[in-house]
Formats: sequence, C-alpha cells, structure tokens
Amino acid sequence: MAPTAQRQRVLSGIQPTSASYHLGNYLGALRQWVALQDEHEVFYFLADLHALTAETPDPAVLTDRSRRAAAQLIAAGVDPERSAIFLQSHVPGHTQLSWILECLTGFGEAGRMTQFKDKSARGGADRVSVGLFTYPILQAADILIYQANYVPVGADQRQHIELTRNLAQRFNSRYGDTFVVPDAFIPKESAKILDLQDPTSKMSKSLPPAGTIDLLDDPAVTAKKIKRAVTDTETEIRYDPEHKPGVSNLLAILAAVTDQSVAAVEAGLSGQGYGALKVAVADAVVAFAEPFGKRVNEVLDDPAELDRVLARGAERARPVAQQTVETVFAKVGFVPPAATA
Ligand code: TYM
Repeated sequence: MAPTAQRQRVLSGIQPTSASYHLGNYLGALRQWVALQDEHEVFYFLADLHALTAETPDPAVLTDRSRRAAAQLIAAGVDPERSAIFLQSHVPGHTQLSWILECLTGFGEAGRMTQFKDKSARGGADRVSVGLFTYPILQAADILIYQANYVPVGADQRQHIELTRNLAQRFNSRYGDTFVVPDAFIPKESAKILDLQDPTSKMSKSLPPAGTIDLLDDPAVTAKKIKRAVTDTETEIRYDPEHKPGVSNLLAILAAVTDQSVAAVEAGLSGQGYGALKVAVADAVVAFAEPFGKRVNEVLDDPAELDRVLARGAERARPVAQQTVETVFAKVGFVPPAATA
C-alpha cells in the first residue's frame, strides 16, 4: 500500500523513557512533527518496545511514562484527528518485520551503529541487552512498514536512517521492489541541541539534570538552568558553533523557540552581553513551556479519552502495517495461511 502521489507519508517515533521530554526532543523532532501533519499523511508512535532496550523500568513506571508521553505529543500540537498517534506495542507488525530485517543485517554492520557503541561503552558489555544491539533494526522496521517517505528526527538519528535506507534497498534488490526508501527530515539549526553545562555533548536525559531543560520542569528551575548555562570567556554574541558552542546553542534555542532564523536573533542581540542573551532565552523557553505543561495536565485529566486516542491511532496504523507484513512474508517465500472454511 504505497502512499498516494498527492500526500506523502511521514513517520516518526519517540521513546517514553522519562516523565518529561526535553527541549532537544521538542526542537529536534516534535516541532517538525507538528508542522508536517498539515500536508502529509502522518504516523507518530511512542516507541515503548525500544524503551525496554536500555533498562527494564518498573512496569507501572513504563505505563505511566507512555501515557505522559502521548499527552506531551498532543500538548505539543500533534493533532489526533490529522495524525495517527499510537503505541508501537499495539501494532504487532513492527516486530514481525524486524525479524526479517534482522536476517538481512550483518552482525558487523549492526555493531558499527554509534549509538549502540556509545551506550554499550557506558553500560559495560555484560549489562548491555541484545535488544539494544538490534534497536536500529526494529527502528528500520518501524519506518519501512509504513512505506514512509520522510522521517523527521534530530541529527543523532542520521546513521539509523542510513541503515534503514540500506536495508530497504537490500530487500528491494533481493526480492523485487517492495519498500519506499525513506529520507531523513532533519531541521537545519536545531538538529542537535546541546547540553547547557557541557555544550560539546547533545542534550540528553542520560546527562546530569543541570544541563537538560525538561519541558515539564518548574519554570523557575528552567530559568535558573538557562542563566547558569556555560558560555565562553569572550563577550560577543556570535553564532559560531565550532568556537563558541555554548553561545551558539543558546542562539539556536532562541531562534527555534521564537520561530526566527539564527541570523535574525543574532542581529537582534547585537551589542548586548551574555546576560541579555540568557534572559531572552529563559523568557522564550518559559513562555513556551508554561502553557505546554498546562495542556499536558489537561490531557492527563482524562486518561480514558487518551487511551481511546491511542486505540484509534493503532486502528489506523495496523492495516497499513499488516499489508506490508503480508507482502514481505509472501516475497520471502513463507507459505500463505490457507482459509480453513
Ligand atoms: P528518542 O526518544 O531518543 O528521541 C526522540 C527524538 O528527539 C531527537 N533528539 C534531539 N534532537 C535535537 N537535539 C537533541 N539534543 C536531541 N535529543 C534527542 C531524536 O533525534 C529523536 O528524533 N531512535 C529514536 C526513536 C525511534 C524512531 C523510530 C524514530 C524508534 N523508532 C522510527 C524515527 C523513526 C530516538 O532516538 O528516540
């Protein structure tokens, strides 16, 4: 079931691995998700299967995080009418296709994924799960099963999308044209939001909280974190990611949150000091995060409706996924199940 010529298909996923998304998730990914839903046929899911790969959280915690994650997508502006919002675990085709793709992936090829290498280096070989190793292949299945044209993600996902493209091409050349070969859709200036305390690393929930802006943080905490952000020993506000990563990161955040180009934000602050930059960033982030937090709570106030949104999303996703699985199973040569009546 290929996407129609008029409306191209967009697919993306996000893990429910904490109680709040951070600003990097929003500016690198979610903001684009919202923008793309007007003119595309979109599928957005919570990668709850992937959420088990780095740790196996308490079951009640995972359940809670998944609902909170869904509420945050809606609060960010993902509209359940225009977008299918669903849980990965509600669509069995993802793991079925993943198995086929695992059998087409080289062991060495999977071992070269930098996210796996980084995370396994941190965790130690004995504590790393096989699920973490096969993570990018499940991600490839997530994408290919919907025949997606575009995948809006942050820059850290580039290598996983490249693997996805390679697997699609490999399958297509082995078994005949089956999968759309997707393109990553990566924003220009907010593809990699950096940690406020260590602006050589991307903002990530696995770093200490002082460098991460959680969208559901108390606004006073957010403002304080931004005012303590590491800059440099110069005084000039200039966008120069190589030599001035801290200041450039703040400019990129301000530009994205206020919907301007980095150049416009830089020009607007010319002649001012880092203090003024930080105040501007803190004001803009809080002005976004405060109503966002309120909307999240409103959505969470009606958990039955939230679960219905997820059920409706899965109902839209399942037939598309099932169709791809049936096509793939037939192409690899599995005997089709006969009708019994
Ligand atoms: P996750 O949950 O780790 O990240 C979700 C999205 O946030 C982006 N992101 C960032 N963008 C800019 N700056 C940052 N500091 C930053 N940190 C995170 C990520 O690039 C991502 O777009 N593997 C995916 C989840 C996934 C998926 C998929 C994505 C599973 N299956 C299929 C697309 C298609 C991930 O990293 O999630």
